[in-house]
Amino acid sequence: MTAGADAGTNAAGRPGAVPLGVGAVLVTRRRIARRVAALAERIAESFGDEEMTIVAVLTGVLVFLADLLRRLPTRIRVEVVSLSSYPGAAVQSRGPSFRLWPVGDLVGRHVLVLDDILDTGQTLACLLDRVRSLGAASVRTCVLLRKNCPRVERVEPDWVGFDVPDAFVVGYGLDHDGLYRNLPDIRVLEAQDDAGGAP
Ligand code: IMP
Ligand code: MG
Repeated sequence: MTAGADAGTNAAGRPGAVPLGVGAVLVTRRRIARRVAALAERIAESFGDEEMTIVAVLTGVLVFLADLLRRLPTRIRVEVVSLSSYPGAAVQSRGPSFRLWPVGDLVGRHVLVLDDILDTGQTLACLLDRVRSLGAASVRTCVLLRKNCPRVERVEPDWVGFDVPDAFVVGYGLDHDGLYRNLPDIRVLEAQDDAGGAP
């Protein structure tokens, strides 16, 4: 389905309108909401009475973080880090580079690393190393999406929201070139040239 065929329109500036270049819905907002609730239950069970420190990877995780956070009953701290693997309009990973690491003291903390999507695995592997080296008592991981593609780093999250095909996806926080984070469903980006050029 193309963007124009969506029940909305491409009317510029209209909330909920689906822009040209953004394709079929892969995961609806309803399925996301149900899955986030289920993930929150599993995570809460696992942490029990332990205080949890979420280390969330900006910016794609913003919407997922906000939804999950409000369903978690345990004592929670939130720290954010910022990494970029897809600078500008790239749709091929260039590998993670830290932009921001403001994480406080993690010594003895029970950490949940939270990311939007597992692709090559480099981001999660890099964060796990870093969090462990900072003396966390335990580190668990949760990603909303796991792409069905070859991994550069062998890393398996403890919790996964949805397995998705090896396509570039946007919406529910995920962007392309900074856009489309506000779409409430997760959609496939229609095929286009990687304007960022070859790695
Ligand atoms: P990895 O290090 O290759 O696993 O990449 C993970 C990061 O790349 C994620 O945290 C996302 O920010 C970004 N990313 C990977 N695939 C996509 C995608 O399909 N859409 C939007 N962002 C993506
Ligand atoms: Mg990310």
